[in-house]
Amino acid sequence: MGIQITPSILNADFARLGEEVARIPSADWVHVDVMDNHFVPNLTFGPTMIEALARSTDVPLDAHLMIEDADRNALAYVEAGCGSVTFHVEAARAPVRLAREIRAHGARASMALRPATPIEPYEDLLPELDMVLIMTVEPGFGGQKFLDLCLPKIRRARELMDKHGVETWLQVDGGVSLDTIERCVEAGADTFVAGSAVYSADDPDRMVAELRAKAESAAS
Ligand code: DX5
Ligand code: ZN
Repeated sequence: MGIQITPSILNADFARLGEEVARIPSADWVHVDVMDNHFVPNLTFGPTMIEALARSTDVPLDAHLMIEDADRNALAYVEAGCGSVTFHVEAARAPVRLAREIRAHGARASMALRPATPIEPYEDLLPELDMVLIMTVEPGFGGQKFLDLCLPKIRRARELMDKHGVETWLQVDGGVSLDTIERCVEAGADTFVAGSAVYSADDPDRMVAELRAKAESAAS
């Protein structure tokens, strides 16, 4: 799998989400940020809205659950039609069981780490996961500044994936833009969430293409 661009709709117009997603036809996935006002100090949407969005687009949905009690709530997002479901390891009591359940219900299973959460304690989980999401801002809001201090963790995650010989995708989320995407590629990421960069552009789909071109040239 090469470079993938996954725009986040967090900075889109929530009153017109179907139309907003139709503006990014070349996206590989649409990233949907689920926030519960407990795990993060912000509140967005839940499975019912995501189910409606899934019906309105052919682009697969990539759910990023910033919610407490991921163990009890994650499967609702598989059932809502998400092709990939990411839980935060800080909010999961039994991450192995949860990843297996997500996979068993037919979605890709992914684990996210906040900026201060290290990857090393979770090395043995890598074969259970289809993707690891490294947050490069504190989760909760779009439009924050990229945290360069997370780059060494991206590098370590890539090294661990190589060591285990797994095909796990490595996603970066937070402050990804034309200014920061090359650093992420060089550190070993292959899947990029971009919210404000895409939805503040006059032509969001052109921004998807520009981000992809920059990442692909950094990767080659
Ligand atoms: C933040 C969310 C991100 C957010 C990214 O907690 O997880 O997906 O939408 O937005 P930007 O790209 O603006 O940092
Ligand atoms: Zn996100």
